[in-house]
Amino acid sequence: MTLRTSSPAVSVAALLGALALMSPGWATAQTLSRPAEASTVTPRQMTFSDRMGDAVGVLVIPLGGSEELTTRGAGLDDATRQAVERALGSAAFRYGSRQTLTLRGIGDWDRIVIVGYGTSAADPQWSGAVVGRTLVNDPSPITVLARGLPAETVAAFTTGMGIGHYRSDLYQAGRRTSAPGGPVTVVSDFAGPARSSFEDRGAALVEAMAWARDVSNEPANVIYPETFVDRARAAFAGIPGVRIEVLDVPAMERLDMGALLGVGQGSERPPRLLVVRYRGQGAPEGGPVALVGKGVTFDTGGISIKPAAGMGNMKMDMSGAAAVTASVLALARSGAPVDVVAVAALAENMPDGRAIRPGDVLTAMNGKSIEIINTDAEGRLVLADALVWAERNLEPAAVVDVATLTGAVSGALGDDYAGLFSRHDALADQLQAAGQATGERLWRLPLNASHGSDMASTIADLKNTSDGGAGASTGAWFIGEFVSRDIPWAHLDIANMAWSGSGDWSAPGSAGFAVRLLEQFVRDWRPIARGPGDGGG
Ligand code: BES
Ligand code: MN
Ligand code: ZN
Repeated sequence: MTLRTSSPAVSVAALLGALALMSPGWATAQTLSRPAEASTVTPRQMTFSDRMGDAVGVLVIPLGGSEELTTRGAGLDDATRQAVERALGSAAFRYGSRQTLTLRGIGDWDRIVIVGYGTSAADPQWSGAVVGRTLVNDPSPITVLARGLPAETVAAFTTGMGIGHYRSDLYQAGRRTSAPGGPVTVVSDFAGPARSSFEDRGAALVEAMAWARDVSNEPANVIYPETFVDRARAAFAGIPGVRIEVLDVPAMERLDMGALLGVGQGSERPPRLLVVRYRGQGAPEGGPVALVGKGVTFDTGGISIKPAAGMGNMKMDMSGAAAVTASVLALARSGAPVDVVAVAALAENMPDGRAIRPGDVLTAMNGKSIEIINTDAEGRLVLADALVWAERNLEPAAVVDVATLTGAVSGALGDDYAGLFSRHDALADQLQAAGQATGERLWRLPLNASHGSDMASTIADLKNTSDGGAGASTGAWFIGEFVSRDIPWAHLDIANMAWSGSGDWSAPGSAGFAVRLLEQFVRDWRPIARGPGDGGG
């Protein structure tokens, strides 16, 4: 470590102060290449009205069938409605969820976007998101014709439009010069209730989704444990019912968090444990739901280094931490009557002279010793200490951890479902129900006693990888060793869902996966009995 003492402006006292703040092992952090402010796209202004205004900009018509054009298009002049009808017929439009048809040259509209809004509970929001994405670079005002649709459907569609209105080109010149999106007027017979529903819940989800995707998309020279904490503090500032606690390295050392500290020790960026508790008015008694996220701000693999190809995407390895924090942000921002805590286990996994080696033995906060076979199986290590901390400090009613944990889960589930592991059927059922309701679906995978045998070490209580296959299950089993068996616990492996190329609703990069799922799950949470659980070994 070199300290610059050449500048006479730097006082000795300031230097000593700075030194006192540093933990012995961690050298100076490099300066930020960018301040830790949020980089979120300015949201479009959403207005709900029972009357249609002038024909300017873009017209959006959600349609479940040709006959709906009569209700939906009640405010349109006959010529416009007939032109749309003809176009729908000649394009053989099928009205499927997320299906769109863009028409130009009709009436005074710049363009008319027709979209199918679907039949499942989750469909209207996804359809809205597709429209939001379609129009993301369009600065024009937008009119949405939503007459005849129930208030909840209208609010969900509007929420989706806000979610789809997101850009991941954080550092491109074009983004800095582009005009913000124009206002949206949603025409509905239920303008009042639709507005309330959107303002009470939807707008908070829009904000939280943007926050989660921003921190995941930001490069690892901008978002590391300390700046993740800064961004969280900024997002939650001033929200009633929120308490933030942050453990730094000395605090974690006092608690013997050898696993989380072990992962972080190869990095210039010191690890952190971030805890955000939100307890809303009218929240049930019985302890909070604890959501614990893997927050590896960059995963090189450590000494067991990853191949070069695609390594840059490992800046998203904190997506579990982003999802748990953002879901609590959505709940807190909307004042939901819930008791929930996000715990983000933040560390950077780097190879270095101080980094952990294969063969090293670490001891977690609960005293369990872990033989490191592969330093690239680091997510389970950071989660181990975070889970022990959560159980001892929060007395949670249930614990759900969320992690980009294994490549193996992609092999099993592709990109249709995230992996769900639990011994508690009642908890698994509630999570799957939230998955159905939001369209962020989960598929339950095995958690067997045999996976425990695979993780037995000859020198320590556990090893961090097995060679027995079933990599997603053995990872889940390892994590479960750090939660008491009688606490309802589930593990979500979102490695296959967190990141993708550009999609119909999503900008390339982070998908913000599990923000909506967890928000729904916590809202609908019904306490379940403690006990060893009946599913899995
Ligand atoms: N962060 C990775 C998992 C990952 C892979 C996330 C691909 C997103 C996309 C994790 O830390 C990891 O490296 N897992 C290893 C575990 C193995 C060493 C047991 C893996 O899946 O290969
Ligand atoms: Mn890894
Ligand atoms: Zn990782």
